[in-house]
Amino acid sequence: MTSALRLDAPDKDGVAVLWIDCPGQKVNTLSTSLVPEFEAMFAALNADPTVRALVIASGKDSGFIAGADIDDLGQVHTAAQATALSRAAQEGFAKLEAMKIPSVAAIHGECLGGGLELALACRARVATEHRKTKLATPEVMLGLLPGAGGTVRLPKLIGLTAALDMMLTGKNIRAEKARKLGLVDVTVPANALMDTAKRVARDLAAGKRIKEKKKTPLGQEVQELLLERNALGRRVVLHEARKKVLKQTKGLMPAPLRILDVVAKGTFEAEAAGFGELLMTPQSAGLRHLFHAITALKKDNGPGTEGITVQPAERVGILGAGLMGAGVGTVLADQGVRVRLKDRDHAAIGRGLDYARKVFAKAKKRKVYGQAGYDERMARFSGGTDYSGFGLCDIVVEAVFEDLALKQQMVADIERVTKVGGIFASNTSSLPIAEIAAHSAHPERVIGMHFFSPVEKMPLVEIIVTDQTAPAVTAATVALARKMGKHVIVVKDCAGFYTTRALVPYMTEAIFLATEGVALDQIDEAAMAIGFPVGPITLMDEVGIDVGVKVMKVMKHYYGERMQFPPDVSQALVDEGRLGRKASLGFYAYKDGKSTTEKGKKVVDVSVYKHLPQGGQVKGGDRAEMGERMVLGLCNEAALCLQEGILRDAYAGDLGAVMGIGFPPFEGGPFKYMDRIGLAAVVERLHRLEQKHGKRFRPCTLLVEMGRANGRFYA
Ligand code: NAI
Repeated sequence: MTSALRLDAPDKDGVAVLWIDCPGQKVNTLSTSLVPEFEAMFAALNADPTVRALVIASGKDSGFIAGADIDDLGQVHTAAQATALSRAAQEGFAKLEAMKIPSVAAIHGECLGGGLELALACRARVATEHRKTKLATPEVMLGLLPGAGGTVRLPKLIGLTAALDMMLTGKNIRAEKARKLGLVDVTVPANALMDTAKRVARDLAAGKRIKEKKKTPLGQEVQELLLERNALGRRVVLHEARKKVLKQTKGLMPAPLRILDVVAKGTFEAEAAGFGELLMTPQSAGLRHLFHAITALKKDNGPGTEGITVQPAERVGILGAGLMGAGVGTVLADQGVRVRLKDRDHAAIGRGLDYARKVFAKAKKRKVYGQAGYDERMARFSGGTDYSGFGLCDIVVEAVFEDLALKQQMVADIERVTKVGGIFASNTSSLPIAEIAAHSAHPERVIGMHFFSPVEKMPLVEIIVTDQTAPAVTAATVALARKMGKHVIVVKDCAGFYTTRALVPYMTEAIFLATEGVALDQIDEAAMAIGFPVGPITLMDEVGIDVGVKVMKVMKHYYGERMQFPPDVSQALVDEGRLGRKASLGFYAYKDGKSTTEKGKKVVDVSVYKHLPQGGQVKGGDRAEMGERMVLGLCNEAALCLQEGILRDAYAGDLGAVMGIGFPPFEGGPFKYMDRIGLAAVVERLHRLEQKHGKRFRPCTLLVEMGRANGRFYA
């Protein structure tokens, strides 16, 4: 096997360059096999009198090092093995740190996880100002901690508070911010990287200081002195961080808590032991599974699309400038696509443009871009009440009301006005795409493109293909969704497709519980206790109760025989104008669109109970059983979608549920979750619920058969 390491002999000043270039890979990742190579290299350099300093750089344009090889971790079966892995990496980097000669990391592009830990073991770091350059410790997002010395070196370098912020969130730090934090010493334009890194290496070898003294404001200096540089202060910082973590994670995530323990101890031994323990947790297994699902699905452009290459659309028309249309347009304009909006009146267009203005103004405030960037984005937007401008569009995204006849009318209109070959992509949340295309002259160009609200934040697009959709149309729509920065799942057409079908049993179960008298906040708490980021009652308020009612009606129409629906209370809520947060009247109390809270908790608007039989009477429902009812209904429907071929594989089902409907990420998705519990146990629990609550819990054939055969969705 060719080596990932390549050494350029020292130049006239004695500066050698070590290039990292993992063979056959697009990006550099650190695998276990690399550690001995590194060690041998560092030992050889240390013994070579002609080398006075070392620069470490990436041989890939794509970036520095994107982290550890996740597949490697899948081969580890015990905590002791994982701890040993961490120790080996720590020792390798300790040899780098202990070299007699100074070392400088030359960073361009992603410098993540183990890549950053390597850079931390260098004497200095030079990074490019390029927007691709990002530094982070993302291990927490995989349920892990930085296990190659990061928990020890990072707090020493940038201070406890900043280091915890990085390690507990995993967020990306851009070059400029990294310099301010002291994480990198120098930032330069990309073309000056190697020269500067060599200069810094030379200066260090000559005993010169390279770091400018950080100019810390007085207030911050005092804070650092009080909190960070004494034992009591550190304890306060760690205690506050723990409180925050417990509040955010409800104690369901071991990784951030273990990071705090390890940082408190501050030793390599504690770090390696913590890494070993975390790698064995089901939460880490779930999160790593999700990472695999993302990687696997990145290559999937939909059925029949192999060999088809497409240019993503440059002009997109949007029908309906409401919540969804405006959101889709905003993300498109952000990504350089020209957008033409159409709605029924100018006021609606104005609201749509305002939506974009708000999103772009926020980004400008966060300094993502300046005024020019803002103006450029707004200039890509235009709108009107007729179809002018639609003739040139490659794709039209339809986001008018959830009404079949109206959507069919839109298809007819668009086929009259757009160019030959243009695509009609419906953002319906429940209607079968084939029915929307029923009277189309070109049903091969009609497809579903299901976004989630708020579009600029939600990471998923579900693409729905009918029996007639042309593969080239699928490929082009997938390409557009990816251009928007979204994860994509491609599913087969039916009412509610995958995500809405999976969501409906979860939501209806919440309403069943409410009509049995359970207090609304307790229903939400039961869902959050399993790990859903928000409960179903809150979700209904956010999405809009009226939107939910429309979807339920569609789903009842198509699945009324099999699915059970609770007593129809939602219509009464809508009739009262109780539409959720947008109306400042919903299940929870709002004032001017803002939640009313007491002791940090949202308050139920008790006047809603008049619509619910025995509303709010049951205060202490069995939380575990409530959670089980909501989550198993969802899982059963997900399995049925796989059985019917709506889902092409379990990966898409897992990614879709986590990214689209908030299934607990650390469970890895409903299929991974069912595997963890065991399919026989899932079937047994569903049967028990069926006896108690009715046929909606009857396990689908696929589950029953797999349960009987002791099967699993994943090997
Ligand atoms: P909305 O009510 O905010 O916006 C719909 C817009 O369509 C309105 O501005 C309306 O004036 C416009 N419209 C109606 N007839 C029109 C016509 N003939 N020509 C042009 N514009 C017309 O609704 P929202 O929430 O944006 O939903 C739109 C679609 O997206 C629906 O099909 C909905 O089911 C779906 N959807 C909604 C999600 C949500 O969370 N709200 C999530 C995913 C899909």
